[in-house]
Amino acid sequence: MNGLERVISALRSAQFVVALTGAGVSAESGVPTFRQAQTGLWAQFDPAELATPEAFARNPDRVWAWYAWRRSLVEQAEPNPAHRALAELARRLPRFTLITQNVDGLHQRAGSAEVIELHGSLQRYRCAICATPVAIPAEAHPPRSPVCVRCGGHIRPDVVWFGEPLPEAALSAAFDAARRAQVFLSIGTSGLVEPAASLARVSSRAGALVVHVNPEQPANMSAGDIYLCGRAGEILPIILARLAEVGQENAR
Ligand code: OAD
Repeated sequence: MNGLERVISALRSAQFVVALTGAGVSAESGVPTFRQAQTGLWAQFDPAELATPEAFARNPDRVWAWYAWRRSLVEQAEPNPAHRALAELARRLPRFTLITQNVDGLHQRAGSAEVIELHGSLQRYRCAICATPVAIPAEAHPPRSPVCVRCGGHIRPDVVWFGEPLPEAALSAAFDAARRAQVFLSIGTSGLVEPAASLARVSSRAGALVVHVNPEQPANMSAGDIYLCGRAGEILPIILARLAEVGQENAR
């Protein structure tokens, strides 16, 4: 049986399936990834100047402007067939949990109702000092970082920066799901950033079949994992279509 057929057969018998996505799932929507040579955000921008609490404390307006630019990019982008296929998988499988490292909101726009956001969201904001959430509609995005009406602290995007812990509830829900899954799909992530990169290994140790969907082999592949080489926007719709075909064949 080839890799794809093994994945289909595992998905058909699984009671619980988990998918973890990274920047690659939004690449076909035109949202830049982080680590790809030339086009990745970290090839063009220094994360130490833009994605750390220290950078924000030094120059809140520069960090604010960069995140405003990223938010405008994702708001102009549309969900692609990979996002839509994952929303459809949630409807077809008995139990399905979607975990993302992305902050772009494209899974939700594609119809995924419940998404565990490990790294926060570009669409949410909070005070950097007292953590009060603040709503900032895209059309009323101020050019400079506003200040909190409660404590006077600067308002920041509610994303995880380097050196910061991940949101506790999201992290523990993600590891719980990884331990319970029979199939763990790791899609469009380089597998280099912890703790998200460990989810696949934890799931595999707990007995899941781990499947990587990526045009390049990710760093966190282990022996026994299946690697489906290609774009998420091509492979995930094939998985969906094949699942439906096999379902019909078995019904005959
Ligand atoms: P990376 O930029 O590290 O990796 C993107 C992955 O997507 C690479 O492995 C690509 O090969 C793959 N890829 C590119 N196009 C693809 C496509 N069409 N279909 C499938 N895969 C494709 O992004 P992440 O792994 O998401 O964190 O990075 C993890 C975290 O590092 C991010 O959430 C961000 C960053 O620093 C924070 O900002 C906290």
